[in-house]
Amino acid sequence: MARFYVTTPIYYVNDVPHLGTAYSTIVTDALRRYHLLRGDSARMLTGTDEHGLKIERVAHEKGTTPQRWADETSARFRAAWPKLDIAADDFIRTTEPRHTEFVRELWKTIEAKGDLYEGEYEDWYCVGCESFKTEKELLPGNLCPIHLKPVERLKEKTFFFRLSKYEKILLELYARKPDFIAPKERRNEIISFVEGGLRDLSVSRTSFKWGIPVPGHDEHVMFVWFDALANYMSALKHGPNGEDLMAYWPKLGSDARAVHIVGKDIIRFHAVYWPAFLLAAGFTEDELPSQVYAHGFLTIDGMKMSKALRNGVDPVRLASEVGPDVLRYHLLRAIAFGQDGDFDHAALVERYNADLGKNLGNLLNRTLGLCAKYTGSKVGPGWAPTPLEDDLFAAVKIHAADAANEWDSIAPHRALEATWAIASAANQYVDRAAPWAAVKDADKERGQARVETILSTLLSLLGALSIMIWPAMPQKSAAMRKQLGLEPVEPRTGHDLFANLFALRAPGEAFSVGAPLFPVIDKDTEKALLERLVPKTDASAATDAAAAATPAAATPAAAAALSKNDAPTKPPEADPGSPMTRSLIAYDQFGAVDLRVGVVVSAERVQKKDKLLQLKVDIGEESPRSIIAGLAKTFKPEELVGKRVIVVANLAPRDFGGGFVSFGMLLATGPSEDLTLATVTGNVAPGARLK
Ligand code: MSP
Repeated sequence: MARFYVTTPIYYVNDVPHLGTAYSTIVTDALRRYHLLRGDSARMLTGTDEHGLKIERVAHEKGTTPQRWADETSARFRAAWPKLDIAADDFIRTTEPRHTEFVRELWKTIEAKGDLYEGEYEDWYCVGCESFKTEKELLPGNLCPIHLKPVERLKEKTFFFRLSKYEKILLELYARKPDFIAPKERRNEIISFVEGGLRDLSVSRTSFKWGIPVPGHDEHVMFVWFDALANYMSALKHGPNGEDLMAYWPKLGSDARAVHIVGKDIIRFHAVYWPAFLLAAGFTEDELPSQVYAHGFLTIDGMKMSKALRNGVDPVRLASEVGPDVLRYHLLRAIAFGQDGDFDHAALVERYNADLGKNLGNLLNRTLGLCAKYTGSKVGPGWAPTPLEDDLFAAVKIHAADAANEWDSIAPHRALEATWAIASAANQYVDRAAPWAAVKDADKERGQARVETILSTLLSLLGALSIMIWPAMPQKSAAMRKQLGLEPVEPRTGHDLFANLFALRAPGEAFSVGAPLFPVIDKDTEKALLERLVPKTDASAATDAAAAATPAAATPAAAAALSKNDAPTKPPEADPGSPMTRSLIAYDQFGAVDLRVGVVVSAERVQKKDKLLQLKVDIGEESPRSIIAGLAKTFKPEELVGKRVIVVANLAPRDFGGGFVSFGMLLATGPSEDLTLATVTGNVAPGARLK
């Protein structure tokens, strides 16, 4: 038995739970459950990250205090997770005294050891990331590459953390502990980041108040990441009931492992800053987290998770529609852990039907049906395995060992693949063993004994599967075991349930045929489900509007599919050029398009894209908008400067690759080599709205 401590990132309370945060939390819960199955003493931590400028601003925008805002939003996270069958052992909030006290102690320790000093700092800051950015990282127009929003110039008194001192130490750590950062791509990325040189890090702020005050310097609050990262330890130092749980933290000679599951966007904080803070506080290399594992980013139905889309795909609502187990299974199985992945609603239904309905569910139904027919729904006394059974057991034991290895190396998608290989092998076995034929043996007794062997074999495999699916599908595991006449899985520390997965059932044990666990979803049910689930994004709503007379595109699923390509929708049969045959839209639909007068401030060619120009267009905002437009075949860049143009100002940004992002569109008519730009006559001020 070992100790296994697994954590999610703590979530900012400026947002509500969404599919990205649900994904991290489900994976973490599944890992915790897997380790419990193995008899480990497993502990999971999640929580909320509540300090910082971002939260202070959101609260003020909403007309409330940061504390009240944090209380409300944190409660939404706490309430959401159990609905996804996530059973964290602790939920930490960074505004709790058990956390703030620990962080202040940590600060004092690092200060006493000499790695904090006072100075002044000036740089670009992205409030979305709560992090400083180097000029190199920014997109044209001083935009944060993650949030695509302008960064702010900050200059203030600050405490610095002597990060530069840890450059070599960290590189040595990564070399000595090759598993410290996973997957490999992220490890390489961090190594080259550190090799590029580490600057001392500004770790306090004096321009706002919503943070943990720096001990002895009340005018400073701590950098939110210094505060946040410490949650992994503060929650152990002061457990939910005040207990000391530090035995879960790694230490020389202990069997404890601590694994941080994080998104790839926050790997640097966990793999560079966090170990450096710990080392600076006097922890040794053996007392660092065992591993930081970064997963990729999810898109939804092929689209980036915009704020609107994130809100549209509420994981709790999804779980209430399809069941938490189905959502968990799909996320764990469909997304290669560590890689970016897509959450596709239609693929969820497809996978449900294939893996759960036709494979595992069918195996359970047909086995229990056969038992009802041939053994009176009891385990029969006969057990005389033939080479068919020997081969089957040899194969499924390998699959089970593979599944365990994959869970151990944090690859839930492969662990489930190996698990389902057992269900597939069992289904093939039923067809080959053909109990319905065996029972017809001229020697009746021999026939019955053979059928009993076949059914006992299947019951053994189903028993194993009911345990192996528990990390992904705890409720379905219990329901399956109920039909098999077994108690729900109850892990016990020190008792490895993988040790005797394929145990045979004792003759005479009874079970019953229940309702199918995974009734197959037919086409009509699927259509209705997808219509309820697939969110309307701004883009798909606009597409719907344009396609009002297009019956084929009238379902949200179809609209989403269309909006995937950002394809403009044309009425199907009418001549798209004729205004008379165009479908009509309501005034409100037109009103949703924000058209502005703009003045072109600058224009440049886009390298390697012979059609595109990058324009800076003044539309009355603080700084000119960057717009990428396909004008290069008609206009020389210099011809455009000073021209009045019409800008669609509220289009979602479009990424052209290579750092070129367009924040709007110009209106024009004509073929690409002979375009005429739409404009206004008269000296209309930039920013004037067209209506
Ligand atoms: N508060 C910090 C973490 C501090 S940990 C000491 C934070 N919070 S967050 O709420 O913004 O993000 C939490 C996690 O959600 C991150 O791991 C991030 O990668 C993840 N995701 C946000 N959008 C996501 C997707 N679209 N897909 C998958 N995960 C995503 O960062």
